[in-house]
Amino acid sequence: MSEFNTKFPEGFLWGGATAANQIEGAYQEGGKGLSLADVLPGGKVRVNVLSQTGFNFEMDKSKYVYPNHDAIDFYHHYKEDIALFAEMGFKAYRMSIAWSRIFPKGDEIVPNEEGLAFYDRVFDELNKYGIEPVVTISHFEMPLHLIKAYGGWRNREVISFFERYAKTVFNRYKNKVKYWLTFNEINSATYFPLSGLGFSADSEETLLQDSFQGLHHQFVASSLAVKAGHEIIPDSQIGCMLVYFPVYSIDSNPVNVLHAIKEEQISNYICGDVQVRGEYPTFAKRFFKENGINLNIHEGDLELLKQYPVDFISFSYYMSLTEKKEKTAEEKVTGNHFSGVKNPFLRQSEWGWQIDPIGLRISLNQLYDRYRVPLFVVENGLGAYDKIEEDGTINDDYRIEYLREHVRAMGEAIEDGVDLIGYTSWGCIDLVSFSTGEMSKRYGYIYVDRHDDGSGTLERKKKKSFFWYKNVIATNGEQI
Ligand code: BG6
Repeated sequence: MSEFNTKFPEGFLWGGATAANQIEGAYQEGGKGLSLADVLPGGKVRVNVLSQTGFNFEMDKSKYVYPNHDAIDFYHHYKEDIALFAEMGFKAYRMSIAWSRIFPKGDEIVPNEEGLAFYDRVFDELNKYGIEPVVTISHFEMPLHLIKAYGGWRNREVISFFERYAKTVFNRYKNKVKYWLTFNEINSATYFPLSGLGFSADSEETLLQDSFQGLHHQFVASSLAVKAGHEIIPDSQIGCMLVYFPVYSIDSNPVNVLHAIKEEQISNYICGDVQVRGEYPTFAKRFFKENGINLNIHEGDLELLKQYPVDFISFSYYMSLTEKKEKTAEEKVTGNHFSGVKNPFLRQSEWGWQIDPIGLRISLNQLYDRYRVPLFVVENGLGAYDKIEEDGTINDDYRIEYLREHVRAMGEAIEDGVDLIGYTSWGCIDLVSFSTGEMSKRYGYIYVDRHDDGSGTLERKKKKSFFWYKNVIATNGEQI
């Protein structure tokens, strides 16, 4: 524990974050339809499925495990889990709604009442403890039918299905939810179109064209959601959600510096500029031209984007990216969606993600300088192997150290003048890793007895970090 003099603003939204497909389980209960996440196998093969072309969206239970089917069974444990969040003092809980619980196939006219009722129960339970829900409308789990029958977000028709879904949840939960996020990590889509846009690229050649067309459809859908959200819930706050990382040049060679700037523009700012400034940035024109991307933009689209930008920016931050123009295959390192090269000044997690708390302060400054809208860190955390000691304790000091340095970085950014409204660290309760499908890549303050092979009692246990975070919240970040 260390004293920290920076004051977080009154009402700062401390809490934790999850996504429906990574915690709920009950994949065929309550009338839920299949989603993308239900057909993703667990284990090492998952990264290949996510990043390569030609996935057929079929399950093969004789060959693979499907960890999202049962996950940590939040569907039946939500009361117990929310009580634990409340015990830590959460002010906010970021979660997502599974689209296929509300519209099992995605293209129905009438929503599934059982699905809607489930989230009523969850929001009521949060409300009981005064925890503010922050709800992602779409987090990597498009209804499978929309993928198979329509080709995912490449198809413009999907916009109207999403709009109906968004209006349905706004109307249903208008008295229960004020903070909404449209698409999780929208800018990861061109790297992982499967999770972001619901299609597996036919070939490398068509990847960029299809991804940016799909993204354009999501931009339009997001603006329509902002429009509807403000009409239905006048005091709602609707944000975009980016995976954000500052891009450093490996050295001061201007060739590499320019390369890093370009990477940052394309990866971070195309989506941010469209969703916050309401227009495609000037540099996009050249990028599209040089990459043979021809967007089919309908009449009225650009006006809509301009008229309905988001109210705030939420983003995930796990690592920075270090870039070099010419890099060999051996020089590449792994990371969250994006790779880059090794930064000699940074340590790495057990999964090779480069740990960089100062990078969070840099990110907050960059985003605030560029956009001048409130910021919300809605994911950050350390995926690590945890060990249960003989006395039953879990001493995750490595996680506390990681989180402490990132909380410190946020405090510094607030001192820098950044308008930061909240922090929901990722995987506040252990959950299924998105990129690997592993349970053993744990992020939680709460341990869940469930393992990569699907075994385990699902018992919940408090880790050392549980008590640390409880105190951080209780002191509004004065003791970290
Ligand atoms: C983000 C996603 O990219 O990173 C989450 O929004 C994901 O869904 C998180 O779980 C951590 O990544 P991973 O691969 O360790 O689960």
